[in-house]
Amino acid sequence: MDILEAIKERRSVRNFDGNSLSENSRKILLNIVEHSTSPFGGSVTIRLKKFDIKDGYKPSTYDMIKGATDFFMLGIGNDEASSLTAGFRFEQVVLKAWQLGLGTCWIAATFKGSTFEDGNIWPEGEKLRVICPVGTAAKQSLMEKVTRLSLGSKKRRPFTELFYDRDFEHPLSPKNRFGLALEMMRLAPSSTNSQPWRAVVADDTVHFYYKPQSKSSVLDCGIGICHFHETEKYQSHNGKFFKATYPPVSHESWKYIYSYKSN
Ligand SMILES: Cc1cc2nc3c(=O)[nH]c(=O)nc-3n(C[C@H](O)[C@H](O)[C@H](O)COP(=O)(O)O)c2cc1C
Repeated sequence: MDILEAIKERRSVRNFDGNSLSENSRKILLNIVEHSTSPFGGSVTIRLKKFDIKDGYKPSTYDMIKGATDFFMLGIGNDEASSLTAGFRFEQVVLKAWQLGLGTCWIAATFKGSTFEDGNIWPEGEKLRVICPVGTAAKQSLMEKVTRLSLGSKKRRPFTELFYDRDFEHPLSPKNRFGLALEMMRLAPSSTNSQPWRAVVADDTVHFYYKPQSKSSVLDCGIGICHFHETEKYQSHNGKFFKATYPPVSHESWKYIYSYKSN
């Protein structure tokens, strides 16, 4: 399965078959964690932990997640760069997991941190902000179906509502040079499916913005930009991310976040 197929097919999995990860899958995922990079800086630590649920010790996701024994835990600094990097780096792991036939679900709200921490110490400035189960999906439970339905998880906003040509007034054509990468960004997961990412294309540059919706909006942008970048790499485009000194000024309450210039 190539990366575009993984992006198109991935969905959040909340019901797992109860089995632990194989040693091989664990090794591959930890290797991706180690080699995942980000151009945004910040401070992020990604750990993978197996919980022995038979011992009676149960990490709490308020019953949102069933049958998972392996969880990623993300220590994330309290600044924009760290949130962007967490989204950008960990989504590389999520996509790889899907390619290996494993399900995941980003969890930033519905978990009880103290039941995961277990004496964990994070580098200075980082806190456990996200956990993510990983394992083989079981048949979708009724609860999972209801959750997905209430979040509208299958739906995404139309391309022309998110991406603009130069001036925030003219919607971008999906046939634009960046059309495929932005389409893959559109399909990314986000907290409560809020899809905060926006972009303006000016010639060979994409300026990324976000519409603040929740505490996780910048993290969500990191995830969307990861999809964008994976698609650029897939097409053998090798652009550069940078902070523009004078990005186009948006007319709405969108916040500028980063730019990408094609080589
Ligand atoms: C940063 C982030 C935080 C999330 N937090 C939660 C959460 O706390 N609980 C939960 O059940 N789902 C959570 N989700 C999953 C989203 O609800 C899901 O990605 C969205 O509805 C789109 O569905 P999909 O992932 O199946 O495409 C989170 C997703 C992201 C990206």
